[in-house]
Amino acid sequence: MKNSVLTVACSALLVAGCAGTQEQMEVSAVAQLQPRSGSSVSGNVTFTQIGDVVRITGEITGHTKGPKGFHIHEKGDCTDDKAMSTGGHFNPHKHMHGGPYDPVKHSGDLGNLVFNDQGAVKINFTVGDISVSRDAPSGIIGRAVIVHAAVDDLTTDPTGNAGGRVACGVIQG
Ligand code: CU
Ligand code: ZN
Repeated sequence: MKNSVLTVACSALLVAGCAGTQEQMEVSAVAQLQPRSGSSVSGNVTFTQIGDVVRITGEITGHTKGPKGFHIHEKGDCTDDKAMSTGGHFNPHKHMHGGPYDPVKHSGDLGNLVFNDQGAVKINFTVGDISVSRDAPSGIIGRAVIVHAAVDDLTTDPTGNAGGRVACGVIQG
């Protein structure tokens, strides 16, 4: 229904005006990740709402090779030098920890990023259960993105046993 209304509105506008309208409807938020816990891990992550899902893109460098836990944590506060100020995993449904595509999981459970031999990763995947919003119950703006020192086992509640917090960034809309 929303789409058909938009199509009608666009057909009544100049092409340039219509493109502008559609751009505004694709809502994004960005987090700049900075090192924590004495690491050299940094990078950027962008969240883009695409219908009911969110596409996560970006690049992170300065880690060691292999899969490392990647989460949205509850509080957008990276001030602590070990990022403990971000609280636990973003968990509006009060679920147990899991993997990003498990039916039961924290909304902030984004699984693992697999870093290459150079300790870098390019991110590009989509998840449900979060929204690029500040006010929605599933909203992630104003929360924090965390990269961990170790692999998330996607099972151990509530942390995935992913070790320390080596990079932190507040999600800004
Ligand atoms: Cu985490
Ligand atoms: Zn979790």
